[in-house]
Amino acid sequence: MLNHKIHKSLITLCLILAVAANLQAQRKQEKSIPYLHLQNGITQLIVDDKPFLMLGGELHNSSASSPEHMKTVWAKMKSLNINTVIAPVYWELTEPEEGKYDFTLTDGLIRGARENDIKLVILWFGAWKNGYSTYTPGWVKTDLERFSRVKDETGNSREILSVFDQETLEAEGKAFKEFMKHLKKVDGTDHTVIMIQIENEVGILKDSRDRSELADQAFDNEVPETLLSYLNLNKETLLPEISNAWAESEYNQKGTWQDVFGPLYAAEEIFMAWHYASYINQLAEIGKDIYELPMFVNAWGKQNAKQKPGGYPSGGPISAMLDIYRTGGPMIDFLAPDIYGSDFKGDATKYTRTGNPLFIPETRRDEAAADRPFWVFGEMNGLGLAPFGIDNKEVMADHPMSLTYALINDLTPLITQAMGTGRMHGFLEAENVSEEFEMGNFIIRIQYQGSGLEDQKGSGLVIQQKENEFLFAGRGFNVKFRHKDEAQFNTAVLMVEELKVVDGVFSKVMTLNGDETYGGTMLKFPAKDENRYGLQKATIYTYPASRNEGYEQQSYSVLDHPGFEGVWEVGVDMGPQGESKGDVEFIIEGDKYKGKMRTSDMEIPFEEVVLTKEGIQVAYSMQGFNIVMRLKLISAEKVEGSVADIYPLTGSRKSGPPIDPQIAEALKPFLGTWKIIVKNTPEGDVSGILNIHENVSALSIKEEQFMVTKVEFRQNSLFLHLPFQGYESTLQIEQDENQTLKGILGELYEINGTR
Ligand code: DGJ
Repeated sequence: MLNHKIHKSLITLCLILAVAANLQAQRKQEKSIPYLHLQNGITQLIVDDKPFLMLGGELHNSSASSPEHMKTVWAKMKSLNINTVIAPVYWELTEPEEGKYDFTLTDGLIRGARENDIKLVILWFGAWKNGYSTYTPGWVKTDLERFSRVKDETGNSREILSVFDQETLEAEGKAFKEFMKHLKKVDGTDHTVIMIQIENEVGILKDSRDRSELADQAFDNEVPETLLSYLNLNKETLLPEISNAWAESEYNQKGTWQDVFGPLYAAEEIFMAWHYASYINQLAEIGKDIYELPMFVNAWGKQNAKQKPGGYPSGGPISAMLDIYRTGGPMIDFLAPDIYGSDFKGDATKYTRTGNPLFIPETRRDEAAADRPFWVFGEMNGLGLAPFGIDNKEVMADHPMSLTYALINDLTPLITQAMGTGRMHGFLEAENVSEEFEMGNFIIRIQYQGSGLEDQKGSGLVIQQKENEFLFAGRGFNVKFRHKDEAQFNTAVLMVEELKVVDGVFSKVMTLNGDETYGGTMLKFPAKDENRYGLQKATIYTYPASRNEGYEQQSYSVLDHPGFEGVWEVGVDMGPQGESKGDVEFIIEGDKYKGKMRTSDMEIPFEEVVLTKEGIQVAYSMQGFNIVMRLKLISAEKVEGSVADIYPLTGSRKSGPPIDPQIAEALKPFLGTWKIIVKNTPEGDVSGILNIHENVSALSIKEEQFMVTKVEFRQNSLFLHLPFQGYESTLQIEQDENQTLKGILGELYEINGTR
């Protein structure tokens, strides 16, 4: 009997333990609600316990109101490799009758997204959409007694609900609460919905503030103590837009909005921003109390520095109002810009002030959409971005965005780990200007290949995996490396491999140490018009630049630096002693330069002329001093340099090398600037500029300039000798009767040219 009892209690104990273990296991499997996590100064969105990059697209405003239309959307989102869709939930359709809720559309959205393994950011179209109140329920719109409107200066009501009306906040708060309750019920475990955008582009359009009675009263009230103490506490770090407005009143500590922020537009905009922030803050608080998802607001930004509030929605969450929204809306996690203008980088960067994480819920859906993600994630450590109207029929499944998103998706674990470590950079072409940045001991130079097309920018990102190992992804650029201490170390490419990623595993496609890297001198990524991206790992190495280390000192010949021959008029900036002028002349003897310098009263021969990596270095003595002058060729016509490594020098060509009269005659019909196309190169047809001068000619292709070292004239053709892609080549040209240029470059590529 006793035994039996013990046995029974043992069984019960085992059962209890088993249930407890099971519960614990279940709890372990339960993933946390999506949340924002700040580490190393970087905010990441954590979804199902992992950092998540939102490779997004936002639907057209009304798409989500049609389940029929939505059926066609998901497959397209998948083919574009979008992992996050921003989709609206409309107050008017969720609460068509006051107090009666209908979540059919919300449920349909969640089901569709889930079936396609896509996450959702829900855009709550509540009281405001682009300033106006178009998506509010009919029972709100028509009851002007109960829900007061913004008024204009003449006292007319506008189709904008007033942010000052408590009744509106209560009505919307109830609807938002029901929505969040429902969301928690249907999605609290699966986490298909990862963030909520509250309202859309709030603010007053066509006026700088609300002029209703409620608004007027509030405008004459004193600035709240919370805001004033924030201003005082953060006085040194306030954004200039706010600090300047406050300075207008000489940092007034008390009074109305105008007393504190001056009588100008700034006071009205700050006043509106404060009230929109606190209204939305109350919604966020109601929502988070139920289900604590990240919540944000988006902005229709100021389009140019001169635009007045009202030209864009006044009081909206633009970057200038970051301080105001931070204090007035502490439950709002961040402010997000909608960027359609041409200065994408500039506009986005402004929103990262005060530690605001970057998420761009709306941007253009043209080809630029394919280039921007590299910069947003690689350089700005962004949370994500979304081209707007992604379900538009003109966005085809072969939009290059799908390739960018696939590549970034493959790299997500590496990107999210590299964020905030300084081991990653992203780059995006603007004005085809090259970019340089430091990584470890190296300076990396990104040269854009330059299509000149507005919507096709070169872009990419790089992650430093070891001191001398770099993983690059992108298109439309080439990469060069150099050591920070160039005088000591030369840098060269040891190995470049093209990679692919399948199911998270990286493998080699090809070793690229030949033409694909210009003979191991740089990395070359696919051109922008190719619907293809590159993923390359480069290992580089350095070797001492000086003989002391046991290596032969690198010697340079005239062939490395053709173009100095001739006479240069130079000016040396001697600081307070003024400018010293003179001529510098170089001639070529064998494969060496010789030279001298002439001022108004003397001629000084150069004792030594040495060619360096940079250019030419000469030594001479003057008034008992040994002096070194360095010169670098900037173009065929310009030199720059220094004297004694202190005084800057600039020079322009006075005359070129002596020229054979027969050649001079033959050159005459070719003189000038030609726009040329080099046909059928491995990169397709490439354009360039050929400058033919009496003495010095040069061919420029992309960012490289090839100086002509010798000119010959045979069988009616001009032969220009130049070092093309590291080899001694010729450019053979002739002109036809229409004065167009025809020829062959490097005995290989046909060229055409026009003046
Ligand atoms: C910005 C708005 O936020 C969107 O809802 C939409 O209207 C787009 N503009 C249209 O370009």
